[in-house]
Amino acid sequence: MTQQTQGSRLEIHGVHKNFGDFSALRDINLTIEPGELVCFLGPSGCGKTTLLRIIAGLEQQSAGQLLQGNDDISLKPPKDRDFGIVFQSYALFPNMTVTANIAYGLHSVGTPKARIRERVAELLEMIGLAEHARKYPAQLSGGQQQRVALARALAPSPGLLLLDEPLSALDAKVRHHLRSEIRSLQKQLGVTTIMVTHDQEEALAMADRVVVMNNGVIEQVGTPLEIYQQPQSAFVAEFIGAMNFIDSAPLNGQRVMVGNRAVDVVRPLPEGKGGVRLAIRPEDVHLLPSGDGDWEGRVEAMDYLGAFIRTQVRLTDVALDLVVDVDPRSARQLELAVGNRICLHLPSDALHCFAA
Ligand SMILES: Nc1ncnc2c1ncn2[C@@H]1O[C@H](COP(=O)(O)OP(=O)(O)OP(=O)(O)O)[C@@H](O)[C@H]1O
Ligand SMILES: [Mg+2]
Repeated sequence: MTQQTQGSRLEIHGVHKNFGDFSALRDINLTIEPGELVCFLGPSGCGKTTLLRIIAGLEQQSAGQLLQGNDDISLKPPKDRDFGIVFQSYALFPNMTVTANIAYGLHSVGTPKARIRERVAELLEMIGLAEHARKYPAQLSGGQQQRVALARALAPSPGLLLLDEPLSALDAKVRHHLRSEIRSLQKQLGVTTIMVTHDQEEALAMADRVVVMNNGVIEQVGTPLEIYQQPQSAFVAEFIGAMNFIDSAPLNGQRVMVGNRAVDVVRPLPEGKGGVRLAIRPEDVHLLPSGDGDWEGRVEAMDYLGAFIRTQVRLTDVALDLVVDVDPRSARQLELAVGNRICLHLPSDALHCFAA
């Protein structure tokens, strides 16, 4: 249906950004491959938008270099860079129709009128809004407006699509729907895409790779699975998904002490003599009938979350509460109930080890 947009590789080398005395980004190094969808994920204020704006040329980096394809774009103004951008709030022109909004970027590069008509029709079809062509933005829903914003950004077939929280102003249902639409459109066009979000579920669901940022630095880059299963820092472990943390002290070899009990771990221990923060996902803790496991505890709370029951267990030997996800079937078999005693098993290969 549409012509294939050729995505281009983006390389970011040693980018720093200062606002006065404040250091907003430090030593950012990242390569984004052609056709990839990468999410910048991190808490508010960590520098996601600043990095996206630097890539667009809307903000000037204090140091570092940016390459798009073989082109050094470090010092180019936004109009000379090859990207389309969509912001969080619908930045459509309110006094222009849907058609005129989508055509906007094509007029400014002098595309012939007939070609513009063709391209707009194609994009309207693609975003499923052909019947709304003559409407004004105020006559559209939020989700429809963001579709138009997306079509407008894609109209000139940019090599790079930049999305800054494009879904965050929408309600959950529309957001979920548009999430998969954006993803399939992006795949179909093969356009290299960066999407900023602070919604981890969105990042894990959509991205080929996730860039986890914190306080102006990149904490980890990886596929959603790598980020979830092999967090490289306690920050990533805590920020993505749910995680239990258990303080321990190194003992010898692959053993640590939790309270007065020795625990074996499989993953490499952090270097140095300091304490070790063990971490385990709620779904990795096994519950067993009382008397059967390594740890004793008492069920403090149970929350039914549909597919599983999020259970809070207070350990007997150590002053510690663990969150454990149990499927309803196992919960029935264990006769799990608040106040009951229960045993726990913490598989050693499920224990992550971080420096305390
Ligand atoms: N123009 C500016 N002048 C001074 N400080 C700025 C400027 N722009 C951003 N900052 C600061 O830089 C830091 C990073 O801001 P940025 O907008 O990139 O965060 P973000 O990760 O996009 O956050 P959010 O999720 O809230 O959008 C913040 O502490 C912010 O206050
Ligand atoms: Mg932002």
